[in-house]
Amino acid sequence: MNRRFCSRLALRKSVAQVQRETETSQLKRSLGPWNLVFLGIGCIIGAGIFVRTGSAAALHAGPAVLLAFLVAGAVCGLAGLCYAELSSTLPVSGSAYTYSYTTIGEFAAWVMGSLLLLEYGLAASVVAVGWSGYVVSLLADYGVVIPPELTGPAGHALMRNGQAVLDVAGNPVITLFNLPAFLICMALASLLVVGVSESAKVNNAIVAVKVTVIVAFVLIGGWFVIKNFGTLKANWDPFIPPPTGEKGEFGWGGILRAATIVFFAYIGFEAVSTAGQEAKNPKRDMPFGIIGSLLICTILYILVSVVLTLMVNYTTLNVPDPVAVAVDAMGAQWAWFAKIIKIGAIVGLTSVVLVLMYGQTRVFYTMARDGLLPAVFAKVHRKFRTPWVNTLVVGGLTACSAGFFDINTLGDMTSVGTLAAFGIVCIAVMWLRRTHPEIPRGFRVPLYPLLPLLGVVACFSLIFSVEARVLRFFGWYALGAVVLYFLYGMHNSRLGKGLEPLGGDEMPEYKEDAPDR
Ligand code: ALA
Repeated sequence: MNRRFCSRLALRKSVAQVQRETETSQLKRSLGPWNLVFLGIGCIIGAGIFVRTGSAAALHAGPAVLLAFLVAGAVCGLAGLCYAELSSTLPVSGSAYTYSYTTIGEFAAWVMGSLLLLEYGLAASVVAVGWSGYVVSLLADYGVVIPPELTGPAGHALMRNGQAVLDVAGNPVITLFNLPAFLICMALASLLVVGVSESAKVNNAIVAVKVTVIVAFVLIGGWFVIKNFGTLKANWDPFIPPPTGEKGEFGWGGILRAATIVFFAYIGFEAVSTAGQEAKNPKRDMPFGIIGSLLICTILYILVSVVLTLMVNYTTLNVPDPVAVAVDAMGAQWAWFAKIIKIGAIVGLTSVVLVLMYGQTRVFYTMARDGLLPAVFAKVHRKFRTPWVNTLVVGGLTACSAGFFDINTLGDMTSVGTLAAFGIVCIAVMWLRRTHPEIPRGFRVPLYPLLPLLGVVACFSLIFSVEARVLRFFGWYALGAVVLYFLYGMHNSRLGKGLEPLGGDEMPEYKEDAPDR
């Protein structure tokens, strides 16, 4: 009985089946190595660097936030190597969910699916809240003021420059709902329904905007720092502020805590692995795309954090638009540059929300085809050829969480979920090496098994640096996901019933008259 139960949980899609799906895929192989790097950067650079770096420095690490970037970058590097090996071995769409289904089995795939909901769905909410911060600030520059109660999460005191904002009666302004964040999620979900997903060309243009804004900040800010180094160097004294005694507030503990926060800034590099079926030469180019985009972003992030924490004192950075605040410190004659930064951030963040939501709908779509979610999630709109119900559900969920919750809680939940997902990917590499040593691998993780093992340890240890409150949320979420598997997924899995996945390889082949469950 026990053995049957365990082998049910470990039911796997065969490697041959997954490879066959790749061979029969009709998606065009049009992406070269640099397209893949740009695809990665397109998903990576977003609210992490434009927003969350500020609170990581102000509340946890001080100028040493740059060490936090190094720690988080190293952890992502380990996971990135594992993604590179899996994507060069099993170049299929669906990413970590499919990798888990093929290696560890159905239960792990289900768990991975629920972690990806945090990594994509919740991350989209975080970026939408970041978007809202920059939009509110840019509109205020032009004299357009959104009622402050509608610019933040439910039940939070509105803060500006570290101080609570007071109303006319002298009471703190309590925010009710983040309207701009809600609206951008709903607007982008509507675009996804009518089929506006980014083309490689649009993605490259947006990447160019984001990278230009960041490089311009590093160059102009760097020039300002060098010119005023005599006074500004005091901002790095102390480089690692002494611990306050509270867990994760400054000192080395604070750096680790900040690492889980800025870890968010790296999420997205693995999106490259979802393009397995569209890469011209997946075995060679996928590792290049994953590692290349990760390396470029790590260098940019470190440069930004050096310049940012030298330009202004870290204590002033707990704001929704820290990069623009640093530029403001250069003087009124640079106000135009602060506006350009805000516009660049808004454009960049919009595309990240879109890509993350798109990724989430495709994970739900694949799970529904496998029978692990109701078939309606794989239902394709007759005219638009998009999974419209699925997209509206994802849009509604991300919009509500962006509207009601604060960016720190959302961001921490995303980081924790993603770290767990990365840990499982490292395990999957070792699993596949043991069970299928014979499959040709375009890329092999060096120093095996040391690096994947280090990846597992690093990902799971970093999870424990977040606040107990977030860990508790995560625990409940994970428990809920497991219970749902036993109540729903296990009984409806098509693989479990010996059936092929619902519909064809691509959405247009889905039959409208396929029986809904
Ligand atoms: N890494 C992405 C961001 O920072 C998710 O917005």
